[in-house]
Amino acid sequence: MPQRHLVSRRSLLLGAAGAAGLASTGGAWLALRPEDPGAGRLLAGSDAVQRAEDFRRSAGSGRTVRAALVAEEAEVDLGGRVVRTWSYDGRIPGSVLRCRAGDQLEIDVRNRLPEPTTVHWHGLRLRNDMDGVPNLTQRPIAPGEDMRYSFTAPDPGTYWFHPHMGLQRERGLFAPLIIDDPADPGDYDVEFVVVLDDWIDGVDATPDDVLAALRTGGAGARYRSPVLAGKIADESASWTYHVPPALADAPPGTPSAVTRLASSIDFPFYLLNGRLPTAPPTFRAEPGQRARIRLINAAGATVFRVALGGHRLTVTHTDGFPVEPVTVDTLQIASGERYDLLVTLDDGAFPLVGVAEGKGAQAFGIVRTGSGSAPPADAAPAALSGRLLALSDLRATAGVRIPRQAPDASHTAYLTGDMNAFAWRINAETYHHDRPFDGITPLPLHAGQHVQLELVNQTPMYHPMHLHGHTFAVHGIGDYRDVERTGNTVLPEGTRKDTVMVAPGERLTVSFAADNPGQWLVHCHNAYHMATGMAAVLSYLADP
Ligand code: C2O
Ligand code: CU
Repeated sequence: MPQRHLVSRRSLLLGAAGAAGLASTGGAWLALRPEDPGAGRLLAGSDAVQRAEDFRRSAGSGRTVRAALVAEEAEVDLGGRVVRTWSYDGRIPGSVLRCRAGDQLEIDVRNRLPEPTTVHWHGLRLRNDMDGVPNLTQRPIAPGEDMRYSFTAPDPGTYWFHPHMGLQRERGLFAPLIIDDPADPGDYDVEFVVVLDDWIDGVDATPDDVLAALRTGGAGARYRSPVLAGKIADESASWTYHVPPALADAPPGTPSAVTRLASSIDFPFYLLNGRLPTAPPTFRAEPGQRARIRLINAAGATVFRVALGGHRLTVTHTDGFPVEPVTVDTLQIASGERYDLLVTLDDGAFPLVGVAEGKGAQAFGIVRTGSGSAPPADAAPAALSGRLLALSDLRATAGVRIPRQAPDASHTAYLTGDMNAFAWRINAETYHHDRPFDGITPLPLHAGQHVQLELVNQTPMYHPMHLHGHTFAVHGIGDYRDVERTGNTVLPEGTRKDTVMVAPGERLTVSFAADNPGQWLVHCHNAYHMATGMAAVLSYLADP
């Protein structure tokens, strides 16, 4: 299969070096021309990025795992309902990609979509020029063209991948990426990979139609799929949330008080491994076996509350990294997050439920270890109202802790927005996916620093915040409206994560080691929020 490597090493280097090479790659795709104030930024094509990769590679396994992906239009059966959508190789989710920590991954991506695309390897601490962020770390792959992604996968765990272009992820373009730990095979007998999703594409609108409706709908806009007409009650009243006046230290342009949880989306379907609740996937095992459930939320705008009927869930990892095991009845998972669970299975057939919070519907599957009638698609296990996992329950295991220490650099990301325009922002600035450095203030950092990031939610909406290329420790949870008590919950052993849900009014303190040079997005993982510009750039600078 002939491959064209659109983002060659040469063109990336030219991105940092000057304008001549940029013209030949079709424009200023790194948004950096000689006159830009970008000199000194360690761009995706910089030697620092290559050196970091050389180091990862020298510590790696020496093995290469190859795979191919075709991004294409396809008709996909959700279980009695066929939709025309975009997918990897005609499947939703795409096939599981699997390797071992330290392996080199070489993935040939063929773009057979009518639009440019990229692939982002969500959660991986990989080389910056393979991160898949259009115009920031690479030029998009044009329709009909191909690109080879090649990088070392440093950390074991549950990850996934998806495009980083517009709302493509909201179609069927996503798949799990599982990185096994050669040093720790794990104490389980069977493994279930469970991908939750909200769905509209090919039903009664495209995701782009939904976004357009929200943007013209004004404050309080709520997109409700016509498929749902008369089926569920209007719950918007129960979502009231009062936002206090913005704090004095809020940046200009933050919204004034909004007293109602505004925009939301009621999707026609919620899927578990690409299946409707009426045609659920069945996970089979023997009674008494230990199952590792790898849970991935690939949704655009849905938080799921997950439970397995008749069982408690022991949380062992989140976002790839191990935690001191904690046993709960249920947990919430936001878009982009992953949880690994251990469950000793009973004898029978059990509902595996992901309640779409606030939407009056659920994703559904069945875990079967014996005979017995299948649970119904609307099963509501008692565990759903049992002990709910809290972020503060999660403690990183000793080997992966990031020490809580005085930071070398500290940044604040105010999560802001304009409810009327359905325009979501960070620090009251709008990120433009086609010209990443225009109109924003990149957050500077230097390799080797201990960086603290405050995530301050000044909106009445939940925002799952995702950091590329690093994982952070959650070191503090507080309420920004009460500065005196802010940070009142200090978590010295806070869990490692790359995606964390920030509740309305909440202030989370996260810290990470700046050990991966490049230009990295930090953004809301709600696909509809991100599409309107809710992203910022963590920008490594060259040392003077
Ligand atoms: Cu899964 Cu930048 O996102
Ligand atoms: Cu958001």
